[in-house]
This record gives sequence, C-alpha cells and structure tokens, in this order.
Amino acid sequence: MRKVVVISNRVMLPTKKKPEAAGGLAVALLDTLQETSGIWFGWSGDITSNKDIKPVVKKDKGITFATVDLVKKDYENYYNGYCNEVLWPIFHYRLDLVNYTKIKFESYTRVNNSFALTIKSLLGNEDLIWVHDYHFLLIARELRKLKCTHKIGFFLHIPWPSKEILTALPDHRELVDALLDYDLIGFQTKNHVLTFLDYIISELKGSVEPDGSVFALGKKSKVKHFPISIDTNKIINIAEETDSSPQVERLVKSIKTNKLIVGVDRLDYTKGLENRFVAYNHLLTNHSEHIRSTTFLQVAPTSRGSVFQYKEIRKKLELTAGKINSAYGDFDWTPIRYLNKGYQQKTLMGFFRHSRVGLVTPLRDGMNLVAKEYIASQRQSDPGVLILSRFAGAAEELTDALIVNPHDPEGVADALNHALKMPRKERIRRWLNAVDQLHSFNITVWRTHYIEALETAITSSPNRHK
Ligand code: G6P
Repeated sequence: MRKVVVISNRVMLPTKKKPEAAGGLAVALLDTLQETSGIWFGWSGDITSNKDIKPVVKKDKGITFATVDLVKKDYENYYNGYCNEVLWPIFHYRLDLVNYTKIKFESYTRVNNSFALTIKSLLGNEDLIWVHDYHFLLIARELRKLKCTHKIGFFLHIPWPSKEILTALPDHRELVDALLDYDLIGFQTKNHVLTFLDYIISELKGSVEPDGSVFALGKKSKVKHFPISIDTNKIINIAEETDSSPQVERLVKSIKTNKLIVGVDRLDYTKGLENRFVAYNHLLTNHSEHIRSTTFLQVAPTSRGSVFQYKEIRKKLELTAGKINSAYGDFDWTPIRYLNKGYQQKTLMGFFRHSRVGLVTPLRDGMNLVAKEYIASQRQSDPGVLILSRFAGAAEELTDALIVNPHDPEGVADALNHALKMPRKERIRRWLNAVDQLHSFNITVWRTHYIEALETAITSSPNRHK
C-alpha cells in the first residue's frame, strides 16, 4: 500500500492526547497512517508572530506528524473568518449568519497555498494525499500549480449545500473549479452528492456518468458518498465498562427513578439546541405527565468561542434553559440540566447507556457521530430510543430512529412523548436494526472504502498523473 498523507485542520499529536482518548476518526486515520508509515499534516492549534513559519516534525510509531502555526491575521481571517464565519454558516444553510469580506477569502487562499508548499516538500513520489474538510477546498489546485501529479482525494465532513445557497457565496465557482482538481471528492451522504452534481450540471453545464465521474470546466473528477462511522465494537465495550463508573452512578442516583433524556453536542448554532429546549418545554406543556418524571441532560462544551455567533448562541441557551427551569422546576426538580463543559467520551457513553432517549436534533449536520455512538452504547435488553433530525446525515442510515423535523418543536415534543412511552419490544426491534447497520458500516469500512476508491480513481486534468 502506498504511503498516505493526511491533511486536516486539526492534527492529533501523539504528545497532546492519549490514544485511548482519541475519537473514532482520529483512530481510523492513525491506523491508516501507521499501516503505510504515513504523514499527518495540519495546523498546530497555535498562533505565532513569526512570519517565517517552518513545520514542526515529530515521529511516533512510524507516523510522521508535521504541524505549522498560523499568524494572528490568518487565525482571524482564515480560521475564524473564512472557515467559520463564511463557509461553515453557508454550508449549514445559515446565510443569515455569514460575515463575508474579500480579505477573508485572500487569507484562505494564502493559507491553502502555504500548506500546499509545505506538504510538497514532505512528499514522496507515490504518496496518496487525503485532504479533510472545508478548511482546504483549494489544496489540490495549489498542489497542481506546483506540478504535483499525485493522486489527491478530498473528504467533506460537513454538508454540501444546495445550489441556491452555495451561489450566494461570491467565490462559489472558484471553489468548485478548485475542487475538481481533486481525483476523488467524497461526501457524507447520497444527498450531498446529489446537490453537488446539481451544481455541476445546472451551474457549470458539466456532465455526470453513472459511476460518479464528473466532467466540467475541462476537468474530470470522481464523486461518491462515504458515510463516516464509529468504531462500533470499541464504543460497545466502553459503554459496558463505564456502566458502573463513579460518575455514571452519581448521575443515576441524582435522577432517581426519572427517565433520562440526553443530548451531547459542541455548542454550535447548527446543533439546534435552542429548538431542542423549546421542544422539551412543549413536552412539559402538552404532555404534562412527564413533569417531574423526566430529566433532560444537555452537555454542550464551548466551541470556537472567539467567533461572535458562538458567543451569542451561548447567551441565548442560558436564557432559554433558565426560563424553562424557572417555569417548571421545583425545589427538588430541575427539568433541564444544561452543562456548558465537556466530559470524557467514556463518561458520556455511560450516560447514554442509562438514558431512555437520545436527542440528536441538529438543524443541519454532515453526519453526526453522536447519533451512532448513542445506538452503540445501549443495552440490548433495555435500549433507549434515538430521536434524530432528518437534517443530520445519519438519518440516511439510521432509519429506525424516530426521525423528526427540528424546526417543528411541537412535533419533536410528540416524538419525545412517543419515545418515553415506547414499549420495550419496539425499542429492541428498532435498536437491533440500527446496531446492525453500525456493525456493517463502521469506521474501518469507511476508511478502507475511501482509500480503495482514491487508489483506483482515474481522472484527468492539467498537471495530473503524468
Ligand atoms: C466539525 C468539523 C471539523 C472540526 C470540528 C471542531 O466537526 O467538521 O473539521 O475540526 O467541527 O471544530 P474546530 O473549529 O474546533 O476544529
């Protein structure tokens, strides 16, 4: 197998985290890199005032980790700016939150170019390059400019928006043109593939073949969906082991005989947390038998805290949770336990195992691995029910969840009522179907399918595969 070079915004450096604490994606990438003695390249997470940036290279267990710092201006205009105030809201259908300036796009282009220059100096002739996520839509184009003839694949972790939304971005054509310099463009779902192909056909007047080959702007590339997943067996084991850990026992003791409803998300406006709180409020209003007999635990650690929209969502949620708790709470019952902090993965899996309902209701999400972890954490004899937004990529696969529209909080409240009253037999039937899916399509299947498809992608455009 050829050496794989992974490029992603975040790099899981061996010194920063213990491997057992790493998420499924990081482990899958580490496995691929270890098998091929590969390289993982990305941002160090640090900001520097030094303009002459050199990569810091470390080796661990046969893997080369190379990271660079960002200068403050690029941290502001590229990472906070173009990535998180432009691409992120647009790709999640939030045109109202976009804060676009040309300077941000210039910074984005500069960072993609300088990352390409650095990675070029680390490449061997036969390496396969696998680029991750919206931070690096331009890397292949920048590498092609440097006469790089390697196979380069891209995988988008977030949704691909519909043409109507994407064309609101002034740079949409340049971005898609650059994307076509990749040999393989991977999306999370069939639906994202379809919206991308719609753009190719109706906006670029390109053409598409049944095998996913796309022809546009004089280039050929290949498009396919690769639904990301979890290390299913590992999550099952973690959940079993944590079942009686001190923290899980404390939670169980504190909720007494109440049924636990649980949500775990980064604190992000795409996660639909405010609507979720409102839905719980409707449950208490419209189905009052659940007052005092349920507890809703929402874990939401702060994310991208220096971006304005993220500060705002934090304030809004505190207000909404406060209002519901003061309206329905009592001296011995708090309806919503809203925690603005993170917990270890194993603790969360233990919480999932002791819950009756997992509430995963994003307004838009590429996949949502919490939905999959929720299923894998359940007890076969008495599983909880997953309530899942139709706008999460996971809804394409987990069709036995209760699928809801997060824009309809009363509908979500009805689903909550249904889940809380669902007979055990039905809960087991739904769970068995879902967990089967997660055994068939786990994270190893995901990475193997992607690498195979990249190795066999036959595409052409200037500077490719000479
Ligand atoms: C999403 C993105 C990832 C990103 C993560 C955390 O899952 O798809 O690329 O790393 O959010 O966001 P952050 O900005 O902290 O890296």
